[in-house]
Amino acid sequence: MANYRLTPNEEKYWEFIRILRTTDGIAQGFIKQNNISPIKQKEYMLKYNQCFRICLDGNIPVGYVGIIDDDIRVATHPDHQGKGIGSFMINEVMKDSPSAVAKVKIDNKASLKLFEKCGFKLKYYLLEKE
Ligand SMILES: CC(C)(COP(=O)(O)OP(=O)(O)OC[C@H]1O[C@@H](n2cnc3c(N)ncnc32)[C@H](O)[C@@H]1OP(=O)(O)O)[C@@H](O)C(=O)NCCC(=O)NCCS
Repeated sequence: MANYRLTPNEEKYWEFIRILRTTDGIAQGFIKQNNISPIKQKEYMLKYNQCFRICLDGNIPVGYVGIIDDDIRVATHPDHQGKGIGSFMINEVMKDSPSAVAKVKIDNKASLKLFEKCGFKLKYYLLEKE
C-alpha cells in the first residue's frame, strides 16, 4: 500500500483513462457503455481534466478516480485489482468531497463491495423502464 499515491490528472494520463474506461471487463461496470474515441476523450478531458486523479504505484498509473457533480467514477487496472487500490482512491477523494455519492449497477459486486468497505450505505434505488 505504501507505494500508492494520487496525483492530479494531466494530459499524459488521458489515454490511460480512456483505455481503462473502455477495456472489456471494466467498461461493463459503468452505467453508460460509451465507445470513447481519442478525440471524444480529448473534448471530455478539456472540460473535466481537473475532476480526475490518477493512482500511481511508483510512477506507474494503476487506476483513476473522478468526481463530477458529486458523482464518483473509479476504475482499477485489471492487473492491480483486489490490492486495496480502489479503497485507497475512494478514501482519499472523500477527504475533499465528503458529499460525493456512487451510482452503482445492481450486478456490479466489486463496486458495491468497494463502496461498502469505504463506509457507504445504500440510500436510494434508481428505477428505469427497460
Ligand atoms: C470496482 C473496482 C474499482 C474495485 O477496485 P479494486 O482496486 O479491486 O478495489 P479494492 O482492492 O480496494 O477492493 C475493495 C473491496 O471489493 C472487493 N472486490 C474487489 N473485486 C471484487 C470482485 N470482483 N468481486 C467481489 N468483491 C470484489 C475486495 O475484496 C475488497 O473487499 P475486502 O477488502 O473486504 O476483500 C474495480 O473492480 C474496477 O475497476 N471495476 C470496473 C470499473 C467499475 O465497475 N467501476 C465502478 C463504477 S462507479
